[in-house]
Amino acid sequence: MCGIIGYIGNRQAQSILTNGLRKLEYRGYDSAGIAVSDGTSIAVRKAKGRIDVLEQQLEQSSVQGQLGIGHTRWATHGRPSDENSHPHFDQEGIFSIVHNGIIENYLELKQDLLEQGVSFTSETDTEVIVHLLARAYEGDLVTAVRTVVKQLRGAFALAVMCEHEPDKLVAVRYASPLIIGVGQGENFIASDIPAILEHTRDVFVLDDGDMAILTKDRVSLHSMETDEPVVRELVRIEWDKEQAEKDGYEHYMLKEIYEQPRALRNTLVGRVDERTQKVAFPGLNLTPQAITGIDKIFIVACGTAYHAGLVGKYVIESLTQIPVEVDVASEFRYRRPLVGKNSLTIVVSQSGETADTLAALREAKRRGSTVLAITNVVGSSIAREADDVVATIAGPEIAVASTKAYTSQLLAFYLFAVYLAQEKLALSEQERKQLIQALKQLPEQVENILDNADHIRSFAESIRHEKNLFFIGRGLDYAVALEGSLKLKEISYIHSEAYAAGELKHGTLALIEEGTQVIALVTQAELFEKMISNITEVKARGAHVLGITLEENIELHRSVDEVCLIPATEPLFTPILSVIPLQLISYYTSLALGNDVDRPRNLAKSVTVE
Ligand code: M6R
Repeated sequence: MCGIIGYIGNRQAQSILTNGLRKLEYRGYDSAGIAVSDGTSIAVRKAKGRIDVLEQQLEQSSVQGQLGIGHTRWATHGRPSDENSHPHFDQEGIFSIVHNGIIENYLELKQDLLEQGVSFTSETDTEVIVHLLARAYEGDLVTAVRTVVKQLRGAFALAVMCEHEPDKLVAVRYASPLIIGVGQGENFIASDIPAILEHTRDVFVLDDGDMAILTKDRVSLHSMETDEPVVRELVRIEWDKEQAEKDGYEHYMLKEIYEQPRALRNTLVGRVDERTQKVAFPGLNLTPQAITGIDKIFIVACGTAYHAGLVGKYVIESLTQIPVEVDVASEFRYRRPLVGKNSLTIVVSQSGETADTLAALREAKRRGSTVLAITNVVGSSIAREADDVVATIAGPEIAVASTKAYTSQLLAFYLFAVYLAQEKLALSEQERKQLIQALKQLPEQVENILDNADHIRSFAESIRHEKNLFFIGRGLDYAVALEGSLKLKEISYIHSEAYAAGELKHGTLALIEEGTQVIALVTQAELFEKMISNITEVKARGAHVLGITLEENIELHRSVDEVCLIPATEPLFTPILSVIPLQLISYYTSLALGNDVDRPRNLAKSVTVE
């Protein structure tokens, strides 16, 4: 994962690099560092820990120069330490590089270098690259980078600088995201757009195999393989700056929770034809004829996006009768899935860069399946490799814990399921209109829940010292329970389990004792009574139960200790509403515990390694 930044221009690089790294910290925050050239030599500052630690070091000893690279790390090879921090440099300190990704053949390359007498200062895979560069260099940095990159296997984005050529930066992308920002008399390299948004809105999104050569006045793009120039579209980024920043909220996560009504409204824009009252996906390549030929749908994703996929399965199967399988991407890619040319594979990814999901996409395509991506990043690898894209318009999501991306993914599934059903003539006009009407109400309903959420904070504070929690539900509520449990685990570090309520009695009920906290989701009318029985079972063993249910089910009060009400909608759409209290519970629990809400331990936002 890791975040990369690079600058070349007329301004001092130090603060441009550190400010950019702050915007990339969500990608990893084990250590940070920068290398800056003053035109004659390169100075490196780096330290284990957050960017604050690096900045303290820079206050003691700043670096001067108008060319530099920076890095924020999520450790893969070698523990977080000063030595393993990037940038890395060769023995003479002539070359400096930052790297995101994994060099799979680094051990054999390292062995060769050791035999040639090279000494290493870190345990990283990255360091081999810089020593190889020093050996390959014959007066031209670009040629040396090309020579070295051909020896590397794995996934990598690199930014490289050389003391002898202080007028250029070289960047390479292979299976790890990288963009080039184009400014006036200055240019930038970054792993993600927010890092450079305060300087420029014009970016090239590099493709795998691209090499970018940056001077302060020019960006030239080449194929690493052939050295031929390549043409990439210069994309204008329209996000507001505040959209990519905290906007007065204490944490990105809270801001993103409260942005959900807007994210949903934006994701709806252009997807409902008001005249025909039909769902529309302008530009979709999937023809009505192809839809009729789909015999099976596979949904593949990781983490929260996988949980959105579980809801997607329910909705697609209910509305279209097409069978759907949902897979965790890291399993799908190796399980020889029975995907074929009549399958549609839907990959779901907020970032569009998750390594396992990207690999699953490629595996599905290799097996002849059409692939549709639901993603929040239009220029991402997943968006570019899929046959079709249904974009979620949630805006940048910075907090590691995914919130607005999840609800936007749910909405994308709802829209797509209605679209499939409408094209397959599986819905009556009245059913379609009713569903569309309900979809359009969702943003306002989410707003209502957020406006009346004060009691959730006190519940969250009351559970902060728990060691274990259970989330239970049936059907769609079970899918949401899984997401609620993941959210709580990742930012509060409290262990929790999500259980299909009917399964408890087959073993897990043994864990329920006096005072055990249980959060029960009860939104599906047809399963209401079954859920009451399951709640009674846990209460009989001493559990304290918070029930999350529809306003119309107020009588649930009698069966639980506390109740949290959400507005009524179409039963298939309740997950978008019932997840909101769960997001707030995990946020406020984490806050009450004093955890780093936006950057939980051991995690990173974008998982671009396998
Ligand atoms: O960018 P993606 O949607 O592909 O990311 C997938 C998961 O890594 C992500 O949803 C993760 O589970 C979140 N941290 C959960 O909040």
